[in-house]
Amino acid sequence: MAVSTSIPPLGLGTFGRTGPEGIEAISTALEIGYRHLDTAQSYDTEATVGEAVRRAGLKREEVFITTKVADTRLAPADFMPSVRRSLDTIGVNQVDLLLIHWPVPEETVPFESYMSALKEAQDAGHARLIGVSNFTIALLERAEKLLGKGALATNQVEIHPWLQVPKLRDYARGAGLQLTAYQPLVKGQVASDPVLVGIAKELGSNPAAVALAFLMAEGHIVIPASASRTNLVSNWAATTITLTPEHMDAIRRLDRGYRHINPTKSPRWDD
Ligand SMILES: NC(=O)c1ccc[n+]([C@@H]2O[C@H](COP(=O)([O-])OP(=O)(O)OC[C@H]3O[C@@H](n4cnc5c(N)ncnc54)[C@H](OP(=O)(O)O)[C@@H]3O)[C@@H](O)[C@H]2O)c1
Repeated sequence: MAVSTSIPPLGLGTFGRTGPEGIEAISTALEIGYRHLDTAQSYDTEATVGEAVRRAGLKREEVFITTKVADTRLAPADFMPSVRRSLDTIGVNQVDLLLIHWPVPEETVPFESYMSALKEAQDAGHARLIGVSNFTIALLERAEKLLGKGALATNQVEIHPWLQVPKLRDYARGAGLQLTAYQPLVKGQVASDPVLVGIAKELGSNPAAVALAFLMAEGHIVIPASASRTNLVSNWAATTITLTPEHMDAIRRLDRGYRHINPTKSPRWDD
């Protein structure tokens, strides 16, 4: 099977999916058809992701696996050992996508140092694709200067109908960089949005799936999380929903700059 260079548009977020229950939920997702799993060193789900993929009996190249280097492991002495440890924990020779989880505040580790280490990890064969997470336009511009255009496969950031990040979205479109929408359901909160509820009723779908369909139609990759089979199934069905231009406009109007994840280490967001 040829190795795809693209990222499957709908993946499974694995935050919280630890232990036997985590393996169970990830296994259910793989059974439903999910082929893209998003983990991170800091989630403690690298092992459950690896175990679920092995139990599913899928070939390694059939599942797209992303992991992220924690912001506490970006110093030169820590970076590469942490990546090798991630590969061991997942039980693979290479991940499909390796991300910098958060930029380092105050640059206590120099930006050039950890971005170069990310590229070295790719050159060493530890990652097929590389990218970043929680990066602003200014940081993306610096990354492009350092590593060249097209070096990064994605920037994973918080995006959902209530936070549509128009400045970052327009920059990314111009730069040919795909955005991955994390926490695309705002922990399930968007499912109660009246506009999404109305569109879902009209389409015989459900509001969370409509939100995911909207984000994918905007060109984003989405990585919703769920431990429930019912929600995993309905989220997966988002790939089959076609929204009209009127639906798209109505959901675009829901943007209210509502940011749910904003720890003190956050960079100065663009929008
Ligand atoms: N890069 C970063 O800094 C970063 C930050 C945050 C998250 N992430 C990634 O993004 C993934 C997703 O984010 P998240 O897990 O925080 O939040 P999320 O996907 O927005 O929401 C997950 C929550 O929504 C509920 N839910 C799922 N499907 C639903 C549906 N169809 N209807 C109603 N409720 C539904 C789930 O409950 P049930 O389990 O009951 O279905 C769960 O409580 C994470 O797992 C992680 O991989 C990355």
